[in-house]
Amino acid sequence: MVFDSGMGGLTVVSELKSQGFSGKISYAADTGFFPYGDKTDTELTARIPELAARLIAIAQPDIFVIACNTASTLALDGVRARTDIPVVGTVPAIKPAAKLTRTGTIGVLATPGTLRRSYTDALVHEFARDSLVLSHGSVKLVELAERSAIGENVSGEELKSELELLFRQVGGDVIDVVVLACTHFPLLKDRLSAIAGEGVSFIDSGAAIARRVMTLLGEVRADGDAMLDRVYMTGASASADRLILATERLGFAGQTTIEV
Ligand code: DGL
Repeated sequence: MVFDSGMGGLTVVSELKSQGFSGKISYAADTGFFPYGDKTDTELTARIPELAARLIAIAQPDIFVIACNTASTLALDGVRARTDIPVVGTVPAIKPAAKLTRTGTIGVLATPGTLRRSYTDALVHEFARDSLVLSHGSVKLVELAERSAIGENVSGEELKSELELLFRQVGGDVIDVVVLACTHFPLLKDRLSAIAGEGVSFIDSGAAIARRVMTLLGEVRADGDAMLDRVYMTGASASADRLILATERLGFAGQTTIEV
């Protein structure tokens, strides 16, 4: 089961498919509490482990993937404490970014929640202490990513002004690697990359998460044809409407709304 606040985890589903995952994938989104990026730590810590435990009880997955940086940086241990199945979290790709940068200046795009976390600070301290790490926390980009993914009109200007909040910081003009530290943002990768221009790479954790899942489940990289199973949601919202549309297009097998 792949879990996120909304549609971001679909970027991990797509990595699983492109790595040849051949099992069943169910999807769960906390559409009734979306977005996570502007919620308090107290609210999320109280909600996510409880919700994960309910989802696991209902869907009985072999593995639970928290395909959300905002949730993982806060509630990974809490979720692990509630289940015996393997739980895979999402870690902002700071380490690969530090290896990749030539200018020594890295940009991080995430939710405000993820950037507040000591978890993220610790990653920067451990892996990128020799780099200048600039960041921009955006709730708006999360919404834009979902809207763009279902084909709604999202203007280049809107995306550009978000990117400028990163690149216009002192020293930001030489950023050559941007970490997409929110699973929603790879939905906008091509567009952000076109705006930023050739000298800037955009990286995320999706492929690494998919590899970890395959390893834990003993899946060999193959031409597997993943079966897209049910979608679980926690309530009606604009995010729920977008998720229904996106997952129906992808071929998921219908939705179940659960009470929280
Ligand atoms: N997809 C989530 C993440 O990776 C966050 C989106 C939200 O704010 O709900 O951080």
